[in-house]
Amino acid sequence: MNTWHGLINSDYRRWLPVTPDTPAISLNEGNTPLLRSDHLSATTGCDVWLKVEGANPTGSFKDRGMTVALSLAVESGAETVICASTGNTSASAAAYAARAGVSAAVLVPKGRIALGKLSQAVRHGARIVEIDGTFDDCMRVARELAADHPVALVNSVGNELRLAGQRTVAYEIVDALGEAPDVHCLPVGNGGNITATWGGYRTYLEAGRATRLPRMWGFQAAGAAPLVHGRPVAEPCTAASAINVGNPATWDGAVAAGEESGGLMAAVSDEQIFAAYRMLAGRDGVFAEPASAAGVAGLLDRHARGALEPGLRIVITLSGNGLKDLDASLRDGYTSAETSAATADVARALGLAA
Ligand code: F0G
Repeated sequence: MNTWHGLINSDYRRWLPVTPDTPAISLNEGNTPLLRSDHLSATTGCDVWLKVEGANPTGSFKDRGMTVALSLAVESGAETVICASTGNTSASAAAYAARAGVSAAVLVPKGRIALGKLSQAVRHGARIVEIDGTFDDCMRVARELAADHPVALVNSVGNELRLAGQRTVAYEIVDALGEAPDVHCLPVGNGGNITATWGGYRTYLEAGRATRLPRMWGFQAAGAAPLVHGRPVAEPCTAASAINVGNPATWDGAVAAGEESGGLMAAVSDEQIFAAYRMLAGRDGVFAEPASAAGVAGLLDRHARGALEPGLRIVITLSGNGLKDLDASLRDGYTSAETSAATADVARALGLAA
């Protein structure tokens, strides 16, 4: 008997900014797998765990925040929600809006989002605007529209509510491991998730459910690393499209998470990201989208530089599902054999017969 009914219907509700009257707009998000990676543990000499956020209903961690954002939007009587997105936020907003019976408007950078994500927004019936510009342009326009029109902004910017939902990932990790890890690695784009995850660990410490805090290690793609350089990037460029962000909306929160935790914010190249992407699929059996692999790439980079103490317990957020970006997967190359339907031909192709 499955007793999980989504974050807003779980024990974690007490930490969400909702009242007893708030309706629950849920797709049973959360409660995602936490898997030990034996090979990353062996490689690094650490105890490495993967938090598989691609197992959420729309395939990314965004659902944790969107259940809260849409539940509160419905409670406040909103009829339309709006967001800017590199793809996952729009997919999640569209699905939760459909479930809630409200309209979703999504602004995405034209030609820069994975097709799986665009098709999710299409199928859930969102009004889609493809903007000739970057994600940062979309973000600016979404904020301006929300200020002047009756539409509720569901980006995490200025929306503590969504970040409160995203904090739950830390609660699940501490509840599963019995304590906070030493280090938490994750990819960073718009800055919301590292801010929320850090906030979740702090909430659990204050509540006495953990006795310590992890160091937060955030990783940006080298071509889109404003938080590493300390200034916005006008033309961000990475094949990890989900984190192709030049001017993060939650800039201060992301920097604070790194600094307050004694952690770091560093860059990894697209080559490193795609190597980690292949490794996760090929060794761990987890198909995560490219951006999701940035945390693993970062950990391996630290290890290669001799900057990783052995024996640490490390959790890595794998933020989204690999099925969202099939172009990225097939572009990466693959081999297959083509044969007739004769069993002997297939046996030969497989090297089972001469
Ligand atoms: N990983 C994935 C798969 C994402 O979609 C995002 C952000 C991140 C990591 C970074 O998280 O922005 O909170 O620092 N995607 C946003 C979007 C920008 O529009 O879907 P962040």
